Amino acid sequence: MSNTETKLFAVLGNPIAHSLSPLLHSFFMEQCHYNGVYLAFAPKKEELAQAIAGLKALGAKGINVTIPYKEAVIPYLADLTPQAKICQAVNTLILTEKGFIGDNTDGNGLIKALEKQHGWQPEGRKILLIGAGGAAKGVAAAIARRQVAEIVIVNRTKEKAESLAKLLAQHSECLIKVLDWDALQQETLYQNVDTFINTTPVGMSPHIEAMAPVRMECLCEDHMAVDLIYNPLETKFLRLAKAQGAKTASGLGMFVEQGALSFAAWTTITPETTDAYRLIAETLNNG
Ligand code: ATR
Repeated sequence: MSNTETKLFAVLGNPIAHSLSPLLHSFFMEQCHYNGVYLAFAPKKEELAQAIAGLKALGAKGINVTIPYKEAVIPYLADLTPQAKICQAVNTLILTEKGFIGDNTDGNGLIKALEKQHGWQPEGRKILLIGAGGAAKGVAAAIARRQVAEIVIVNRTKEKAESLAKLLAQHSECLIKVLDWDALQQETLYQNVDTFINTTPVGMSPHIEAMAPVRMECLCEDHMAVDLIYNPLETKFLRLAKAQGAKTASGLGMFVEQGALSFAAWTTITPETTDAYRLIAETLNNG
């Protein structure tokens, strides 16, 4: 039940009808006995500035930003966290006295999820990013700030991989390599990389039989295969990787953990996420 102490939170995107963020954050609030309400809005692009100003005037403590506004919202913010500065995209706005600070919790959310599910840590890893779009940027910004041994980027459009590599090189000491899309066909790649992260939408529902051209027979139990897609919960890439003995993780963990990091930034309460994984998985399975 709400009262005059109830704090306001929101997610902005367009369309927003399929967002699971209101469900996730309402669940965290209930679990943590936090007096808040989390609402979804779909402002038009030309109303985005007004929406942010309005939420600030109403004292909204936190906002999530999703597609297509993760970059468009930046001009209306007071500042960015170092993480958000690297990827120039935000998913979390935190109200401060100066105004909203923009953060990006996607990449750290993924790292948290892999730690929780597999005890995986980025330090010393050789990580292959498949794709170089917005989702890849969020992940790359987080892993580049940890002591990874190497980040290899392959993308259908090589120029985009090169510009991501350039961006990362400005902010990180780690070794960054760009390879041709065809490099996915080379067996040596699979000996030189231990973690494969698909950041492309290839394999997403309804095209569930699609897959990036990975040579699945080259994957083994030494590899970790990650897909940022959570619809379906197990993409063809993950299904085949699992059959090869590789460890696998879907985008479900990243979604829940990025939400938990946002919630903690807003409220200083770190929610326990095990039940949230179950809730979101059940909701996805029920369509
Ligand atoms: P997002 O912000 O969700 O990452 P995006 O910025 O449009 O979305 O990026 C999508 C990524 O998936 C890009 O790297 C894109 O490759 P291109 O740069 O060549 O466009 C990649 N991608 C999308 N569809 C693809 C396909 N069918 N095969 C290979 N890569 C694909």
